[in-house]
Amino acid sequence: MSTLQHVAIIMDGNGRWAKSRHLPRLAGHKAGAKAVERAIKAAQKNKISFLTLYAFSSENWSRPQEEIDGLMKLLSDSLIQYTQTAKKENIRLWVSGERDPLPAALLTQLDQSVQETAQNTGLTLNLALNYGARQEIIHAVNAAHAAGEKNLTPEMLRRYFYHPQLPDPELIIRTSGEERLSNFLLWQAAYSEFYFTPVLWPDFDEHEFEEALAAYAARQRRFGGI
Ligand code: IPE
Ligand code: IPE
Ligand code: MG
Repeated sequence: MSTLQHVAIIMDGNGRWAKSRHLPRLAGHKAGAKAVERAIKAAQKNKISFLTLYAFSSENWSRPQEEIDGLMKLLSDSLIQYTQTAKKENIRLWVSGERDPLPAALLTQLDQSVQETAQNTGLTLNLALNYGARQEIIHAVNAAHAAGEKNLTPEMLRRYFYHPQLPDPELIIRTSGEERLSNFLLWQAAYSEFYFTPVLWPDFDEHEFEEALAAYAARQRRFGGI
């Protein structure tokens, strides 16, 4: 079977899940937070080393302020609660994205959670937060330029990404039936396999996760060869 080290998920459909139940959008995001815990468990069970979760994009700031505030609070609350679990379960937390303009309280909590789990050796949970792939590439180009790098190669540029040690995701999953990247991991997705499912993120569970892994296992990856 093809190796599978890194799974990345575009967790989409919280709003539609809530709407179908005549609930406010934030109820969908709360149900989505439960699905995050299930996905982490499924990743551990299936011996995945890196799990990247797209939690908030650079473009999500264009949502109504009330939804943004609710999401930021949910992220802070979930992080405080989840860090205890991460410590017990040997999970290492990483964050990918730009710090500005995330709220100060969330940044403080993120720094603490990252620091408290930094020595863990189990699953690496990479939270893509205020993340945009174009922004990551530009950040890397600027950092490489500031470091005086000349004649950049792809390998050199990678050293300036948010996490140079993060392998490219072999598999990218997107829920809710949308089939696009929405500015997620554009560079790293060069040879990723894609798995799209109509299941809305709050309904995504271990079974769905394993379906995605099974679909991946059946793919033939050629990397330009024959
Ligand atoms: C994904 O669900 C969560 C975030 C983008 C924060 P959405 O909120 O995009 O849900 P839909 O697409 O409106 O259903
Ligand atoms: C992508 O979902 C971002 C996250 C899942 C965090 P969106 O719902 O924001 O994407 P678009 O706007 O439908 O492309
Ligand atoms: Mg969406």
